[in-house]
Amino acid sequence: MIKPDAVANGYAGGIISKIIEAGFRISAMKLTALSPERASQFYAVHKARPFYNDLVKYMSSGPIIAAILEKENAVNDFRKLIGDTDPFKAAPGTIRNLYAKSIDANAIHGSDSDANADIEANFFFSVTERF
Ligand code: CMP
Repeated sequence: MIKPDAVANGYAGGIISKIIEAGFRISAMKLTALSPERASQFYAVHKARPFYNDLVKYMSSGPIIAAILEKENAVNDFRKLIGDTDPFKAAPGTIRNLYAKSIDANAIHGSDSDANADIEANFFFSVTERF
């Protein structure tokens, strides 16, 4: 998911180029937005964390781009491509190093396991929206 700050700042094209250049196949993609209720649901796993309310507020502040990406070893390779959650710790050349502003406004989200990738893909896309 490309987050609201990156969409608003015009970074979506640059981010999608990096994803394609890294060898991911895009099997679904859409510009959409999360209501506060949907953002709470998406990040429910973080409900107990101190940053949860700010995260939900931020993630529902503007349009996002949701996508399903396919590749061998996709979860790990994507996490390498996007870099550390904290953009100030993200390695040079990673998407968060290039495009993120802060730990909340960190440009992009990637699933942390194959199981969560499935859950998150189903959250955004019906079967007929996948190619
Ligand atoms: P993301 O990969 O979307 O998953 C949860 C998000 O919570 C994370 O990226 C950050 O944008 C946000 N977040 C804010 N503060 C923290 C924190 N201290 N640790 C981890 N994630 C945080």
